[in-house]
Amino acid sequence: MAQDSTLLPIRASPPKLDYSLTGVNSHLAVEQGLAEADWYQCPVPRETMRKLLERRDGPALRDTIIWFALIIGLGWFTYALWGTWWAILPYTLYAVLYASTSDSRWHEAGHGTAFKTDWMNNALYEIASFMVMRESAVWRWSHTRHHSDTIIVGRDPEIAVPRPPDIRGMILTFFGLPGIPKYFRNVLLHCTGRLTPEEKTFIPESEYEKVILRARIYLVIYGGVVAFAICERSILPLMFIGLPTLYGSWLMPVYGNTQHAGLAENVLDHRLNCRTVQMNLVNRYLYWNMNYHVEHHMFPLVPYHNLPKLHEVVKSDMPPTYPSIWNAWCELAPAVLRQVKDPAYYVERKLPTPTVRGDATPASHIFTAKGQAVDGWLEVCVSEFLKPEEVIRFDQDGQTYAIYRLAGGELHATDGNCTHGNAHLADGLVKGKLIECPKHNGRFDITDGSPQRKPACIALKTYKAREHDGKIFLALPSSNAAP
Ligand code: FES
Repeated sequence: MAQDSTLLPIRASPPKLDYSLTGVNSHLAVEQGLAEADWYQCPVPRETMRKLLERRDGPALRDTIIWFALIIGLGWFTYALWGTWWAILPYTLYAVLYASTSDSRWHEAGHGTAFKTDWMNNALYEIASFMVMRESAVWRWSHTRHHSDTIIVGRDPEIAVPRPPDIRGMILTFFGLPGIPKYFRNVLLHCTGRLTPEEKTFIPESEYEKVILRARIYLVIYGGVVAFAICERSILPLMFIGLPTLYGSWLMPVYGNTQHAGLAENVLDHRLNCRTVQMNLVNRYLYWNMNYHVEHHMFPLVPYHNLPKLHEVVKSDMPPTYPSIWNAWCELAPAVLRQVKDPAYYVERKLPTPTVRGDATPASHIFTAKGQAVDGWLEVCVSEFLKPEEVIRFDQDGQTYAIYRLAGGELHATDGNCTHGNAHLADGLVKGKLIECPKHNGRFDITDGSPQRKPACIALKTYKAREHDGKIFLALPSSNAAP
């Protein structure tokens, strides 16, 4: 049992929960303000966060080259030793790398944060999705919802351990089951051009074609592998593609269940429904630092290679970290078993007294008008507050705006809230002429507001901004600002 947490009963037994995305709890979550809500964020000084958000190709390139080299090398040894007992060792390692560690590659590349270069993120995402048996187009959107409404019953499609837990089902996940039949059932359904009612709640219609196309590609690949195996009268092709999920998936739930299992549902603070677990270097490499799960959920824009640094910044505002995977399991296993009999039980994490550091409070990042508008222009701040490739938030009359300075010094302004969900773009990352949303990594062109990366689909409104006399000014739409 972890030292810092206790198992506490909820006093009144809650009614049986409906985890489907179309049931009663889905409506309740919306009514109770739990959908697309504001979540707690640990205070992080602005300058520190800018550094943590920095994207690089180097770490992910190094890690991905090593990963593929290991998979190909172990595959070659398996092939070379096939027919002898010696093949078991390389094959076991191959299957774990193929079926379990592709999960964290899928995850990081899906966020678009692993690499600085977009095509590398997209390529790794597609390959890892195939390996981990997740339909890339479907899971991109389901994971978006998981980040909006983490462990909110009726909203989050990725709650791995609903209450009461299905222990048999949990054990089967160590063998890739029941995921494999469900995957192929959905692939076949999508191949026919249909989606499930639940999928329709989180995938926009404009993405249906992508879902259908990917499903057909998967079917062709698996069909080709089966045909090849039949022609060769050998099971070997299937041992390399498809079957590894049966033998190699076990490490995924070992890591994955530490993320949320047994913790609180329907809370708007990731410190209460996620775990950060210390792991050794090998596990952190295999898991791509997803053991820093609270930090990742709170700041999904921070690349995996910077999560240990982020942890150092916020740890005083977090419940104590779990010292090992074993320690986390010592807490979650009894909690989950207890929930079988009493679904009201959950692990309550104790939060530290809030800390405030320098410019780290949310309010310190918000600019408001200095006096009345002159010729339609509102004074925002002195120029030096907005450095190149940065963005600030400006609030006026109940509206929020984002004002940007591009690398060349040019100023632009847009609506401050993302059109996809509840997020302030001023907390996002300026990349060239793009702003990346802090919540789901959607992107917009700063110069014209157009959406440039999913899940952002609707354009932002743009406004005029200018610099004069060492100050920044914004022209609001209602103001007939003089040029
Ligand atoms: Fe989803 Fe911005 S809130 S991309």
